[in-house]
Amino acid sequence: MKKIALGVSSSVGIYKACEVVRGFQKSGVEVQVVMTPNAARLISPLLFSSLSGTKTIVDIFEEPLARTVGHIALAREIALLCVAPATANVIGKFAGGVADDFLSTLFLASRAPVLIAPAMNEAMYLHPQTQANIARLKALGAEFVEPEKGYLACGDEGWGRLAEPEAIVLEGMRLIGRTASLKGKTVLVTAGPTREHLDPVRFLSNPSSGKMGYELAREAVARGAETILVSGPTSLVPPAGARTEFVQTAAEMQAACLKAFPKADIVVMAAAVSDFRFKAPRARKAGKIEIGSTLAVEKTPDILALLGKKKRPGQFLVGFAAETHDILAHARKKLAAKNADLMVANAVGEGKAFATDDNSVRIIAPSGPVQETGLLSKREASRVIFDRVEAAVEKKRR
Ligand SMILES: Cc1cc2nc3c(=O)[nH]c(=O)nc-3n(C[C@H](O)[C@H](O)[C@H](O)COP(=O)(O)O)c2cc1C
Repeated sequence: MKKIALGVSSSVGIYKACEVVRGFQKSGVEVQVVMTPNAARLISPLLFSSLSGTKTIVDIFEEPLARTVGHIALAREIALLCVAPATANVIGKFAGGVADDFLSTLFLASRAPVLIAPAMNEAMYLHPQTQANIARLKALGAEFVEPEKGYLACGDEGWGRLAEPEAIVLEGMRLIGRTASLKGKTVLVTAGPTREHLDPVRFLSNPSSGKMGYELAREAVARGAETILVSGPTSLVPPAGARTEFVQTAAEMQAACLKAFPKADIVVMAAAVSDFRFKAPRARKAGKIEIGSTLAVEKTPDILALLGKKKRPGQFLVGFAAETHDILAHARKKLAAKNADLMVANAVGEGKAFATDDNSVRIIAPSGPVQETGLLSKREASRVIFDRVEAAVEKKRR
């Protein structure tokens, strides 16, 4: 039986949290309610204890739970952290990394999907600070059930009323389902640039930061896949749960991909592989005069094309096309030429996509309309891409 944590904070919408507990229980989920100390001043924790059948957690320092570092233990157990209702304060604390009670500490300790249902007065909800906090949390991967417009407890009419419990439970169950949607599958992701050295101190490369590929690997892990990340040089922390192999050159990236490819069900080639390497790399630093004004280069191996040739019927191959112009035309050509199943195209240059935190991508399949995401954080974009990949894999299987 899946277990979730339901965070309850001190909004008047708190009375609806009882229905949220019931809704999750009816969907076959065990609910551990975690109230903020302020919420416990609005409603007795005993009400939630009796509904959930488990003692409601309020105080992070209360024994015996504190003796076993309860917030870490719960963080490891839960398939979802749902906060309904979420006050402006809780949203601000999550966005700022403040951990001063059980709920906000659990948020930092957990890697489970996070679903937040805000509830507050319209002025508080629309305040630029609250909206900035929501945008920050969305960029970090949290999902929201937007509040509704209607009569608010403060007497105002407007945005800020907690969404209906059924809508919150439905979205929560969808997120729980997604954590296992790639269970049993192996996903290979490539990320970052490659470096093709001329000598020990000079190389050919590109400005790829690896952020898109790392987010894709993180998403594959979050969906339960056995994830292999082949990464060129980046300054990023590898995603927890992925097996990360570091490489430098296109040739090394090819070797790592060929090794992982036979067991991969889905391959996402997000790395910006250098197209050229020096014909005659040197083992020692070359002087300016020695180098001269012309350097001979040769093409590096085309890893995507190679995997496209080796692809078995059950395997699914996703390529990336980073272009400065004629993006769709180039991406379509690449999709067909490389025998890929999907192509993710994005504009690069002029500060776009490379090394940024957000990306606007177009997803192209051999047939059907182009899916345009608009500008999203790379975290959100990775989710859209995997939703599309999963739908296409399912269609291919049928
Ligand atoms: C009766 C009452 C209702 C409240 N309703 C809300 C609300 O709907 N949304 C909100 O963000 N804050 C609301 N507040 C203010 C919060 O309770 C306050 O910001 C508190 O510090 C939040 O603490 P917590 O987030 O730890 O629960 C309300 C306060 C009171 C006294």
